[in-house]
Parts: sequence; structure tokens; C-alpha cells
Amino acid sequence: MESWATFGSDFYLDLSGTGGLRSRLTRSLRDAIRSARLAPGTRLPSSRTLAVDLGVARNTVAAAYDELVAEGWLTARRGSGTRVAQRVTPPAPALRQATVAQSMLDLSVSTPDITLFPRTGWLRSARRALTVAPHDAFAPCDAQGRVELRVALAEYLARARGVRADPGRIVVVSGTAHALRLLNVLVPGPFAVESYGLGFHRDLLSATTPVPVDDHGVRVEYMPAVPAALLTPAHQFPLGGPLHPRRRADAVEWARATDAWVLEDDYDGEFRYDRDPVGALQGLDPERVVYLGTASKSLSPALRLGWMVVPDRLVDPVVALKGESEQYSSALDQLTLADFISSGEYDSHVRRMRSRYRQRRDQLVAASPVPVSGLAAGLHAVLELPAGREPAVVRAARAAGLGVSGLDHYRHPDAAPERHGLVVSFGAPAFPRALAPLCRVLAEHG
Ligand SMILES: Cc1ncc(COP(=O)(O)O)c(C=O)c1O
Repeated sequence: MESWATFGSDFYLDLSGTGGLRSRLTRSLRDAIRSARLAPGTRLPSSRTLAVDLGVARNTVAAAYDELVAEGWLTARRGSGTRVAQRVTPPAPALRQATVAQSMLDLSVSTPDITLFPRTGWLRSARRALTVAPHDAFAPCDAQGRVELRVALAEYLARARGVRADPGRIVVVSGTAHALRLLNVLVPGPFAVESYGLGFHRDLLSATTPVPVDDHGVRVEYMPAVPAALLTPAHQFPLGGPLHPRRRADAVEWARATDAWVLEDDYDGEFRYDRDPVGALQGLDPERVVYLGTASKSLSPALRLGWMVVPDRLVDPVVALKGESEQYSSALDQLTLADFISSGEYDSHVRRMRSRYRQRRDQLVAASPVPVSGLAAGLHAVLELPAGREPAVVRAARAAGLGVSGLDHYRHPDAAPERHGLVVSFGAPAFPRALAPLCRVLAEHG
């Protein structure tokens, strides 16, 4: 038997189990107090009210209260009713134990410095967006995404990334991963992928075939005749090179000649430190390149906000499929991001983070006893290691409490190991504290 009672707000009491009703009620209340679901000082309903809520005799409730008063769990005072005793100390939440287990200095590459999330600016945008939101913002959202966000993105992407975008071609998604799930249904595959890349993304695609990469990005001349290729042209992930200008043109030519799509993963294109960012590949041929952007690196992966700029032919199929799968991002977060971008906060935040990350990368380059490869860009770098050293260095780093992976972790299973090194996020919140122990490990084992 389970029941709901009203303790100022609805409160669930589990009255199942063995024994009479009174002892089950006593046990259920005692458990609620012990686990802090009923906090010290909480006023309990009168025995009459609770009896009505639970559909039991008032005497049953009164007897349960008396027993808990006698045990010290409750106090009963004339005038202030029956309350949970103050001296009952709630147990330490399980969360605290979990944090201890994760005390590694995490330098894995999945997040930006989330401690620098622009809370104040975001809050201002949320307040403004909510204040002016039309009523339809609270109805089920258009599968293509809120038009306010698509308009703001079209302007931003054209200006900052050289994307040929208009709001009618933009589809708001919950991140790059969501975009890949949709494209995997619409494009038959197999997909050509860079031989080093994010395994999680490869696994979202039905079949993949690796193409070698070097310091200038993917070796386009080795791209097979397949329906699509997933590339990271601005900043190869994880090696860190930009796609060479000639290869950019060749990649587009490959797509035209093979009647294929290029899926451009522009995950951190805003973060270039040595010069202005190179524009998106999509600008070269918007009918062949599907542009994939995300707020996961620039703001936070917890927002689950990303965007696709889709060739004309793909707009309707993508929107229809997305509508079926109902994976919307919150309309209020979309409106907030729209305001955040159009008010200039997004640009300011990116500028602020750019200077932070640049300093950190400079620190890494200055301190590292091994060569740092890749562009002065993004939120991660590769610390190069001689062939054969990588497993020992990864082991030693982990033993020293550093959460890192080697390049081998990112290698396509069908690709030969060609590069060796540690992939390190200098964007991670732990980076300032992790730098010294990291360099010690590299000096000893690298
Ligand atoms: C290579 C790459 N692409 C894209 C993303 C962003 O993915 P999502 O937008 O699904 O969070 C990441 C994030 O870690 C990434 O490493």
C-alpha cells in the first residue's frame, strides 16, 4: 500500500510491508525522517488531516505520532503542533562520497572550463528572453528550432565562421551527437572518418572507414567513394592540425565528384590563438557540406544545444526525422541563447575564454618537457611521445592522479597506429593544478 499525504506539499509515504497499519505508518515516517526526506523542524499535519489523506483511522495516526515522539524522532508541543525533532542529524548525502571517488585531476577532453560558465550574462539573457517570450514559446516547439535562435545563429555563423547560413537552413539540435544520429538515418553510409577521432561519434554511425591524417588534416587523396565523410577541418580532432587550404578545396571536389556529403564538425572553431580563425569549409559549397556546430565547447556540454546548417535538399528530411524522434532542446534555453548571441554576450564570452585558454596553452608549451603539437587553437593539445612510450606514460599519469588518454584511445580500430602522445585538455578546470604533476610524469617517463 502506498499513499500520498499533504505536509504543506504532497508527500509520498510507503505503507507496504509486514505488520499492522500503525507499525507500517510508524516505520514509514521514521524512514522519511532518518533519510532526511522530512527535514528537522518540518511540521507534520494534524493526526486528523493525515488520517483523512491516508484513509485510515485518526487513532492509528495519533498512536504512530506518540511512538515517534517517545523515540525522539518527533516533538509535540501545544500550539506548535507535531514537528520533526531538531536534533535528528541527516546522513551525509551519497553525493559527497561520490566526489571523493572522482578526486582525479581530470584532463580528458570532453568539457571546457565549466567553472567559468557566464552565469551572470546567461541569467540576464534568460530573464530578458522569458520576459518577452510569446505564449507559443510554451507550446511544443517547431522541430527545426525556435526562429529567434536560427536568426541569431545565421548572423553569428556568417560573421564569425564564414558559414553561408540563412535561418531556413538551420536546424537546432541537442549537440553534434544528435546531428550525427539524424544523419546516420538519412545517409546510407558507410562514412569516411579521420583515422584519429572521437570514438563516441564513430559509434553513432552505422559503418565507418578510416582515412589517414597528418599534420595538415585528413589525406583527402585517400578518401574512398562513399556517401559521406565526417571531418574536423578547422582543428583536426584530436591531432590538432588545420586542414591544408589545398585539401579543403580537394575535399569539396571529392564530394562533388562522388556525389557525397561532407559533415563538417566545427566543435571549437572560435578558439584560435595565433591568428583569426579560418572560415568554415561549408562556405566553399553549402550544397555539399553539412555544417555542425555546438555550444558544448564554447559554453557548456550540459546545455545540450547545437546547430546544423543543412544543404537545401536535406532540410525537409532532417526536420521531419527530428520531429519524429522528438529530441528537442528546451525552447526557453533556445530563446536564452538567441538573446545571449544577439546581445553580444556570446562574443564577449568567447573573447574572454580565448585569452584564458591561450595563456594556459602557452603555459603548457613553456613547461612541457616533450613537444606540443597541433595548432595554437582549441581546448586541447597533443604532447608527443616516442613510439612505444605512450602506454607507460598513460599508466604513470593515471597513477599520479591525472585523468588523461593517449592518442591510441582515439584511433579507429581499423587504422594502424601512426602517432603517439598524450591528449591533454588545457581547457579543463583541473589544468592549473595538474600542470606540474603532468610535467613530472613526462620528464620521468616520456
Ligand atoms: C570532436 C568533437 N566534436 C563535437 C563535440 C561536441 O559534441 P556535442 O555537441 O554532442 O556535445 C565534441 C565534444 O566533446 C568533440 O570532442
